Amino acid sequence: MKIALGADHGGFELKEKIKTHLIKNGYEVLDLGTNSSDSVDYPEFGHAVGYTVAEKKAEFGIVICGTGIGISIAANKVTGIRAALCTNTTMARLTREHNNANILALGGRIIGDILALEMVDTFLTTEFQGGRHEKRITKIENV
Ligand code: RB5
Repeated sequence: MKIALGADHGGFELKEKIKTHLIKNGYEVLDLGTNSSDSVDYPEFGHAVGYTVAEKKAEFGIVICGTGIGISIAANKVTGIRAALCTNTTMARLTREHNNANILALGGRIIGDILALEMVDTFLTTEFQGGRHEKRITKIENV
């Protein structure tokens, strides 16, 4: 399974840790930057991951900025993207089960590394439940 990663300078360090973790666990990683702690603009990376997932060049995306807020807003501008900003593993599970989220957004300055990796694992291994949730997602897509 291929995962697209994107972060600004506030998420760079956590992105590198997630990248190592994913590769160790057999995932293919498409790293769309940034590649240092130098200041950059999070929308560029949110959009890049959003388009990559929307165009099915990766199954899922993970985006990280300082809070996770700006980059999730940017990713959600791309049609077909459901980027979910999560701060715990319950949210990471439920956003897959109920929202069929295709991008996980994290705050590199908000959460610890161990929690972040647990959320990544939960997000990538939880299936969408479909059923009653399907029509709600269709209502989102129709706007
Ligand atoms: C960058 O300083 C910071 O604004 C950004 O990483 C993010 O938190 C925006 O939502």
